[in-house]
Amino acid sequence: MKNHEFNVAFFDAKSYDIQSFNEANTGFGFQLNYIENHLNLETVRYARGSRAICAFVNDDLGAEVLDELEKIGVKLIALRCAGFNNVDLTMAGGRFNVVRVPAYSPYAVAEHTLAMIMTLNRKTHRAYFRVRDNNFSLQGLLGFDMHGKTLGVIGTGKIGKTFISIMKGFGMNILAYDKYPDQAFAEANGIAYVEKEEIYRKADIISLHCPLSDETFHMINRQSLSQMKPGVMLVNTSRGKLIDTKNLIEALKSGRVGSAALDVYEEESEYFFVDHSNMIIHDDDLVRLISFNNVLVTSHQAFFTKEALANIAATTLNNIKEFAEGLPLSNEICPKCSG
Ligand code: NAI
Repeated sequence: MKNHEFNVAFFDAKSYDIQSFNEANTGFGFQLNYIENHLNLETVRYARGSRAICAFVNDDLGAEVLDELEKIGVKLIALRCAGFNNVDLTMAGGRFNVVRVPAYSPYAVAEHTLAMIMTLNRKTHRAYFRVRDNNFSLQGLLGFDMHGKTLGVIGTGKIGKTFISIMKGFGMNILAYDKYPDQAFAEANGIAYVEKEEIYRKADIISLHCPLSDETFHMINRQSLSQMKPGVMLVNTSRGKLIDTKNLIEALKSGRVGSAALDVYEEESEYFFVDHSNMIIHDDDLVRLISFNNVLVTSHQAFFTKEALANIAATTLNNIKEFAEGLPLSNEICPKCSG
């Protein structure tokens, strides 16, 4: 089959996706059928006639959608992201090849994490609006020196490591936790691996960089929050479901958590990436979070740099090319998901 005859149903397509994929596709020539909607049980029919689908973080690839995709004749699920917690891999096993973009720019996410931390610390989000209203008071804008504070990093993969390299520049004491610690990295960078509980007890800032799994689901909950230093800054640019939102709101109200930077939110698929400015938000937890002046919510934008978009498009199309040509799949999540 020629590339231009190879149809890819491209779900949740935004203008910036279309631009970056069209640019990269000049070198491949696939038939990319852009669909604005999320992939779910109602929209799965748009994949009819396609051998591959391309999906993003909030597309539903649960058991029922997979059944429908199989009936339609889809063989390849090409994720244009790193995380794959939205795919039921057990159900995909033996029926689909599932590929992803394991790394497109750890810098994009790590740099956004730092941007969020500095915004919350020095309160530039509040200062910006204040000055525009001719209010030059500093009342309430007091920050702290990063130098000498303790940073806890949970998850030291590509993004966690890049983030640590950046944060070393502040002269912070860095504690890390990972299920699979990289001691060579720790030694080379002068950081220490400790248990999660030690991070909770000692860190002034805790940043999450581990994937979402059964093990990490709601790892930040009432119990872990109660062990944290009063006034801790909690940062999540990883996946929303790592944090129990209701428990976080309680901890923000009580002051146990001093501030929170959230690029991801557990129920984000309802709202993120879309303009809802003319609508009523029905998610009371999201509205409560946004209402705190010590909480910064961004709409899953940590990945969103020019370089990352170009890399995502190039790797995704190369993943599809390998499948179309029957080559070994370099970025397969698991060979036919044997799980
Ligand atoms: P990675 O796979 O390179 O690193 C993940 C690290 O987490 C590994 O070192 C792994 O050993 C560790 N880990 C696994 N299970 C753990 C557990 N139970 N407790 C502690 N550590 C554990 O992944 P990468 O590229 O660094 O990405 C990290 C996460 O960032 C992704 O899973 C994804 O959810 C999120 N992400 C968010 C983006 C955004 O735009 N906000 C963009 C890209 C990724």
